[in-house]
Amino acid sequence: MRVLVTGASGRLGRVVLPRLRDEGCTVRAVSRHPREADGMEWVAADLATGEGLAGAVAGVDAVLHLASSPSGRTHQIDVLGTRRLVVAAGHAGVGHLVYVSIVGVDRVPFGYYRHKLAAEQVTAAGSVPWSILRATQFPEFLEELLRTSSRLGPVVGDRAVLAQPIDPGEVAARLTVMLAAGPSHRIEEFGGPEVLRFDEAVRAWRAARRSHRPLLPVRIPGRLGRALRSGGLTTTATPTGTRTWADHLADTYGGTGRK
Ligand SMILES: NC(=O)c1ccc[n+]([C@@H]2O[C@H](COP(=O)([O-])OP(=O)(O)OC[C@H]3O[C@@H](n4cnc5c(N)ncnc54)[C@H](OP(=O)(O)O)[C@@H]3O)[C@@H](O)[C@H]2O)c1
Repeated sequence: MRVLVTGASGRLGRVVLPRLRDEGCTVRAVSRHPREADGMEWVAADLATGEGLAGAVAGVDAVLHLASSPSGRTHQIDVLGTRRLVVAAGHAGVGHLVYVSIVGVDRVPFGYYRHKLAAEQVTAAGSVPWSILRATQFPEFLEELLRTSSRLGPVVGDRAVLAQPIDPGEVAARLTVMLAAGPSHRIEEFGGPEVLRFDEAVRAWRAARRSHRPLLPVRIPGRLGRALRSGGLTTTATPTGTRTWADHLADTYGGTGRK
């Protein structure tokens, strides 16, 4: 199968590419800044303008759409860019478009999620047969959040917010199965093996880093807080991934403590 991967240089893209290659796919990788590496074809395309998209989708059987811009021009890139991609893929006769979204886009009132939900709708309304996978947060994202929220010393957060980190390698494996299965015209959800409260995640993170930063509890107000505390970012879908937050921390920090 010939597969075009958008967002190929991103966190998920970097683990998806070798997996697709190992599965025997011919991979074309998209970036705004293509490179020559990894023994695969890189092409330049920009979802914000549509430049390069027609050539990128030409001759591929499937598109795996991972590109996203969580901050900045999200409407332009995630919503209108997805529309540009879907239209180009339709003209090229692509047989399957797989879009990666996030668990909670339909429940949690973040601006970014509103755009991801709109991009799902663009995907489903397009002429290309489709599948959508909503994944929960990657552990690296949770770590970034913890680092940012502890910039001033204590870890600031709402201790009752629920998270369900999923290993990006397991998401990549799931995506290769979806590509092989063909279009489902369904939205599937995929989460990690455990639902963690924010304070549990912080405790394990501090222990792994041998850090003594205290948790400074705050309560996220309003509808957003309620959605986050009631599990808006989690899913009951099965099967789940198997790699835990503790596995991620052990891989990252080992026994040597803080990085
Ligand atoms: N991070 C998480 O915890 C998480 C959880 C669930 C689902 N997801 C979803 O999974 C997908 C991949 O996430 P990620 O964390 O791997 O993303 P990431 O590391 O932030 O990478 C984003 C990618 O988007 C590409 N991109 C940005 N603007 C573009 C534009 N104008 N034209 C073309 N490409 C553009 C970038 O490519 P270049 O810079 O090379 O052009 C980059 O490869 C996203 O759709 C995200 O919403 C993420």
